[in-house]
Amino acid sequence: MLNPAGPELSGGVRGYLNHQENKTLLRFITCGSVDDGKSTLIGRLLYDTKLIFEDQLAALESDSRKHGTAGEVIDFALLVDGLEAEREQGITIDVAYRFFATQKRKFIVADTPGHEEYTSNMATGASTAELAVVLVDARKGVLEQTRRHSHIVSLLGIRHIVLAVNKIDLMDHDQSVFDAIVEEYRAFAKPLGFDDIHAIPLSARFGDNVSIRSTAMPWYDGPTLIEHLESVVLPDSAVELPFRFPVQLVVRPHLDFRGFAGQIASGKVAVGDQVVVANSGQMGSVKSIVTADGLLDAAREGQAVTLVLDDEVDISRGSMLSHPDARPLVSDQFQAHVIWFDKKTLMPGRSYILRTETMSTPASVTKLKHKIDVNSLTLEAATHLDRNEIGVCNISTQMPVAFDAYRDNRATGNFTMIDRMTNATVGAGMIDHALRRADNVHLQSIDVTREARGALKHQKPAVLWFTGLSGSGKSTIANLVEKQLHALGHHTMTLDGDNVRHGLNRDLGFTEADRVENIRRVAEVARLMSDAGLIVLVSFISPFRSERLMAREMMASGEFLEIFVDTPIEECARRDPKGLYKKAMAGNLANFTGISSPYEAPEQPDIHLKTVEQNAEALAMSVVEWMTRNSVGGI
Ligand code: ADX
Repeated sequence: MLNPAGPELSGGVRGYLNHQENKTLLRFITCGSVDDGKSTLIGRLLYDTKLIFEDQLAALESDSRKHGTAGEVIDFALLVDGLEAEREQGITIDVAYRFFATQKRKFIVADTPGHEEYTSNMATGASTAELAVVLVDARKGVLEQTRRHSHIVSLLGIRHIVLAVNKIDLMDHDQSVFDAIVEEYRAFAKPLGFDDIHAIPLSARFGDNVSIRSTAMPWYDGPTLIEHLESVVLPDSAVELPFRFPVQLVVRPHLDFRGFAGQIASGKVAVGDQVVVANSGQMGSVKSIVTADGLLDAAREGQAVTLVLDDEVDISRGSMLSHPDARPLVSDQFQAHVIWFDKKTLMPGRSYILRTETMSTPASVTKLKHKIDVNSLTLEAATHLDRNEIGVCNISTQMPVAFDAYRDNRATGNFTMIDRMTNATVGAGMIDHALRRADNVHLQSIDVTREARGALKHQKPAVLWFTGLSGSGKSTIANLVEKQLHALGHHTMTLDGDNVRHGLNRDLGFTEADRVENIRRVAEVARLMSDAGLIVLVSFISPFRSERLMAREMMASGEFLEIFVDTPIEECARRDPKGLYKKAMAGNLANFTGISSPYEAPEQPDIHLKTVEQNAEALAMSVVEWMTRNSVGGI
């Protein structure tokens, strides 16, 4: 039954290929903690389905002797833990997709790592899978990792679970151990809404109940893992999702040809179909469908095609095409579940890059509604998300995004979040729904522009952003600069941390989350004031690069000056104008910048002022001179 190259060949090669082609495909993932035996299980599945070739086997036997942990038995984990480095560390760190087949079905398994840090890979592996094999070590039972992975798997839309209670041989094949684990897991997973949870006691290492029924567990009369995987009922593929086509590239080799290339995310399209561009609402009809193998009359989900439309429709990279009667949502505000991967916490108000199937845009969490406790699945209030935490957030994007709710369409309902400083993928999200408020708030165009307002004052709007430690001299220098600009007849306004914190921001303290919000608000105010045509001086510690970058991007180009007031912390502590360093060093002031809270110095400030080398008057003068030289503020 397990050998694909068996009796099927009797129909000839063509018959064999046909049979392969017509088999259904099950995509599944394996998840569990380190050492639960995922790699061994996958190696065992591949071995038992005879997809390991003789030469690989020979290499495996010699490797098992070198690195293995299974003694004389072949160590199957070595087969799938492809990377040499991983072998040395003994953990799996990437997502590897493996293919195997039995007579009844084809399988793609995503081998996902169990190490605490690699939740992101797990989420990647799960996003296309229909079933998850949740491995539990019979000796350890249900762990926090088991619960977290199960929760993620349910969020990612997987409805079928196999609870594989592995290493049962090490518990003497004891039924009561198995039953207790299954009972605990079922109770935990109830709210996760899986369609079915099938539990199997097995030993991946020895092959018990993987493809061959174990003789050591007469008390178990269910199917083997392979039998179960072969028989799981898949969603009806006849229920077609609406057509979604994210345009990855506008192809224009010469003037007479303009096509839109991409991979069909869901549904199907045919020549003659009317299509609509999600963001603009423009329509066109499909003239031809071009592929590497020639023209097609129709194409469906998963195919990479280039669509040629009959009308001149304005479509750019990142657009999404659909049929007019089943359009995706388009919004710049929505609610989503977010899984956070990064060591640096998710901060509401901080700007990240949000990447969907179609596009990338700056975005931030406007409200963290709650986080979800993975053990109890209860909701908890939260100000931020730490690594591996899952939260429900309102998200606001700079550009409107075309999407579907994740429960309606997994391909177009998910996104990733990217850190703007490191470019690392720091989170994954599943969109719940658009926020209605976004539908009803539209930007008003105003006829008197910021330039016009500035011109009346004989200046150009500008924002001078002073950043530096507490006591570095920001306020002193900003004050002198303003006095000079004022004397020159300019219209200015100063926003100072200590002052704004007495009014607009009096609800904020000094935690990282509060500082992010502090800077977000002051940047918005500075933006409004520069819209009024003013030269705005902002004097805030503003300790984080992300928020200073966000402020820069909010202003018109060339109107934002980052001025680093650079004073070594020892000097600030020596000056200690407000006695705060003394307090902080005595342990009486929490989260004090430079002592118990970080300060990320600018890497490339527009102006770098070193206060130990020159006095405040000279430095202020140099700022005004710099502005004149570079005609900032039109002075
Ligand atoms: S920021 O980090 O959020 O940009 P902001 O510039 O608004 O800080 O406020 C800094 C001022 O608040 C400091 O100059 C100091 O007078 C006062 N302060 C009180 N507690 C702290 C603290 N824990 N860390 C830094 N500054 C503090």
